[in-house]
Amino acid sequence: MQTTSLDATEMDNANDRRHDVTVDMGRVVASFKKRYGSTFWHGLTHLIGDHRPQVVLDLGCGHGLFLEAAVRRHGVRTVHGVDVDAERLRWARERLHRALPPECVHLHLVDLNTGPPPLPPKTVGLAFSGLVFHELRDPTGLLRAVLPLLSTGGTCVTYDYVSCSPEAFVSDMAALGVSPKKALQRHPRMCRHSLEDLEGMYHSAGYDHVTAIMVGHTRALVAGRKT
Ligand SMILES: C[S@@+](CC[C@H](N)C(=O)[O-])C[C@H]1O[C@@H](n2cnc3c(N)ncnc32)[C@H](O)[C@@H]1O
Repeated sequence: MQTTSLDATEMDNANDRRHDVTVDMGRVVASFKKRYGSTFWHGLTHLIGDHRPQVVLDLGCGHGLFLEAAVRRHGVRTVHGVDVDAERLRWARERLHRALPPECVHLHLVDLNTGPPPLPPKTVGLAFSGLVFHELRDPTGLLRAVLPLLSTGGTCVTYDYVSCSPEAFVSDMAALGVSPKKALQRHPRMCRHSLEDLEGMYHSAGYDHVTAIMVGHTRALVAGRKT
């Protein structure tokens, strides 16, 4: 497995495109706020329960926006972000260093199809994956590999699209500013797992207290706990 931490010198390559990327980041942040609205945060708070995570692992963290929000909303102290895209991780580093001391920010360039990064066992309070499960070859295998990393009482949460009609998917995507044509190109690939599929993955991987909450008509939060 390749697990690489990024240093600041790697940011140099992005400098030429800095203006374009800055413009894109405005769009990325606006889209994040729509996908991670109040229903999402209420659902996540309910799923975490009384167990307040100090250490959060984000599987497919992208630009680090979920981790940044988790620090601000839940007082998270240490973050691990995993992604296969080095450019997104560079942005995650920049944003997260504004929210936490650098020694509390750990970014891992890892292909999740080979498993999570090799973190010490029983150290993660919340493992989270947002809108990436549908892209993975073996999500159940990933859940199984994450379980030993969770501390007792820790939670793993998956947020993703679930099986739905093309009409519902187009309507949800329209609210995010995606055209019907582009939405139909993504359907049914992005909503390939049903709610029951996702719950079944958690059960097969050995989690307890498997719970699901719908977020609107097309997305769901599914969680399992380590007891
Ligand atoms: C749709 S984006 C979601 C980003 C973020 N979780 C969010 O919800 O804003 C999917 C992310 O998963 C990452 N990703 C996709 N396949 C991956 C893999 N096999 N290993 C690691 N990261 C992956 C992509 O690079 C991208 O950053």
